[in-house]
Amino acid sequence: PAGAETVAALLRWYEAERRDLPWRYGPRKKADPYRVWLSEIMLQQTTVKAVIPYFQKFVTRWPNVAALAAAPLEEVLQQWAGLGYYSRARNLKACADAVVREFGGTFPRTENELRELPGIGPYTAAAIAAIAFGEKATPVDGNVERVVSRLFAVQQPLPAAKSEIRNLAATLTPARRAGDFAQAMMDLGAEICTPKNPSCLVCPVQQDCAASARGLAESLPIKAQK
Ligand code: ADE
Repeated sequence: PAGAETVAALLRWYEAERRDLPWRYGPRKKADPYRVWLSEIMLQQTTVKAVIPYFQKFVTRWPNVAALAAAPLEEVLQQWAGLGYYSRARNLKACADAVVREFGGTFPRTENELRELPGIGPYTAAAIAAIAFGEKATPVDGNVERVVSRLFAVQQPLPAAKSEIRNLAATLTPARRAGDFAQAMMDLGAEICTPKNPSCLVCPVQQDCAASARGLAESLPIKAQK
């Protein structure tokens, strides 16, 4: 079954194949919590491809959270135009204000503190804690649910299976590389373990995948009828 060896194979694949995204950092350079936060907010309902030019524009104009907090809301909304879901832009500005006011301009590092901030829900709090701070946190979105349900051949339908999937994902999370693990799972879900026609033949964890072994990969996860 999937375990520490699986995680090691996944991390090796991530090191070799990871997407070079402007909010990602090499092994030598530490992540910037501001950039990780900004990217995660933009990625909430928008694809990586659409986010990249907006991300570049924002960090050029406002290179840190204090700069964004000092900007007028109107200007932030103008720069957000085209990305959609404008409540994200309002929360972005409210969150920047709160980080400056309540934390002196330094993002808090734990999931619980992050969740108190505007626009940061459970997924985003876990993503920032893991990716920016190396906290042992496990962001689970639809992609990660799909990967985990296949690795363990979870037969229970979603959404009932959510808590089991969450537990399995948390159990796999390595204490020392939670951020790389999170992003490796995201990349695997985006590029290999896709909803349709998953590329099991080139998957770095295929040898440990219970669904692939039983020919079930494409049929999982099962979704309950609405
Ligand atoms: N989707 C959400 N967060 C992401 C990240 N950090 N990298 C790639 N895709 C993502």
